[in-house]
Amino acid sequence: MDTVLELRCPPLPFVRIGLIGLGRRGMKTLERYAFIKDAAIRCLADIDPTRLDAANESLERSGRPRADLHQGPEAWREVCHRADIDLIYICTDWATHCDMAVEAMRHGKHVAVEVPAATTIDECHQLVETAEATRRHCFMTENCCYDHFALSTLEMAHKGLLGEITHCEGAYIHNLRDTFGLTGNTDNTAGNWMEKSCARHKGNPYPTHGIGPIGWLLGLHRGDRMDYLVSLTSRGCGPDHLLGRVNSTLIRTVKGASILLQLDVTTMRPYSRLQTVCGTKGYVQKYPVPTIKNLTGNTILTGEEALAEARLHTQMHAARLWQEGHRKNVPNEMNYTMDARLIHCLRHGLPLDIDVYDAAEWSCIAELSERSAREGSRPISIPDFTHGHWHDLTAYTMYSA
Ligand SMILES: NC(=O)c1ccc[n+]([C@@H]2O[C@H](COP(=O)([O-])OP(=O)(O)OC[C@H]3O[C@@H](n4cnc5c(N)ncnc54)[C@H](O)[C@@H]3O)[C@@H](O)[C@H]2O)c1
Repeated sequence: MDTVLELRCPPLPFVRIGLIGLGRRGMKTLERYAFIKDAAIRCLADIDPTRLDAANESLERSGRPRADLHQGPEAWREVCHRADIDLIYICTDWATHCDMAVEAMRHGKHVAVEVPAATTIDECHQLVETAEATRRHCFMTENCCYDHFALSTLEMAHKGLLGEITHCEGAYIHNLRDTFGLTGNTDNTAGNWMEKSCARHKGNPYPTHGIGPIGWLLGLHRGDRMDYLVSLTSRGCGPDHLLGRVNSTLIRTVKGASILLQLDVTTMRPYSRLQTVCGTKGYVQKYPVPTIKNLTGNTILTGEEALAEARLHTQMHAARLWQEGHRKNVPNEMNYTMDARLIHCLRHGLPLDIDVYDAAEWSCIAELSERSAREGSRPISIPDFTHGHWHDLTAYTMYSA
């Protein structure tokens, strides 16, 4: 089977979207697309009719036409089968992503799927095989790749300011103990699907926010690839042993770079994605305090000075879109940049920023970290989803018209 590296599809002058899942993230997605030109949400699917009504009211409030509604357990399939839709946007819980994405691609649609795109290695292979067989895009909506500091770091790396990158750190450290109902401070004592998934999982079920920007920096499947990982999970407390639980995963690439990934959603640690990059000529970190040091500067820049330095490296199309979002006063520039980039590439028939191999590589850490953590932190090989084509390309490229 031919790969879908740098997949180019016929340009779509206007992108017609079917949105599946109108929960918290789906509603935010619906609201965000009010700011995106040349795309419209044409139909909606959810099992819960109240979510659909709320979504249509939101469309109306923002001056957009109401969408066609599909309700019930098979509604998502109906949306995937419609002939008048170009892009299926999936905002449901993790367990449903792969089936929906595969069905959509089999029916000729491009896919945008929330993180993680898949929960098992088998699902990762299904996504890749279907994208290759159908020649459709499968874009995982990893918004953290479009963080302004991450984009500046990528530009600095491409300008050679960081030298050879030998080590990166990324994470999702976000205290969700109240959201999960672990502290008695909310009425969510029954928990929710994410809390239950995290409690069941013994590794890192949510690795993509941490690994996404690193994947671009290290050119994963664009000259390097992840070789193996080891993983370790701390004990947790409380009824489902989730409170205080922290997973740390170490990954080594074929070319010898190391990566630290962490997941911590229940300790008191302040929010962080680490975003730490060590190179032979420079050092960049976003959290807890933005810091930049490179050979061309005599001092270590921190805080506002580091942010000012980062703003000097904003020539890439995505960074310019981030500034555009800021000027438009959008609710979240990072998400605006992701949406605008996705639609830009679809409209111009360009390869997407995040391809199906990214989706598979970043998502597969969920199963592999759990396997390693359960087996005494045993090293586990990471599959090459490109069937040996991981060095056909030599660096990460973001395309623009
Ligand atoms: N990128 C980010 O920053 C970010 C932030 C929040 C959530 N997310 C991701 O978004 C996704 C959704 O999370 P959420 O918090 O919105 O969840 P949620 O539970 O609030 O919403 C899920 C929605 O999907 C619907 N649904 C479930 N199964 C369905 C089916 N078979 N057919 C149709 N509809 C179905 C539910 O009724 C619900 O309305 C997750 O993958 C999550 O990881 C990403």
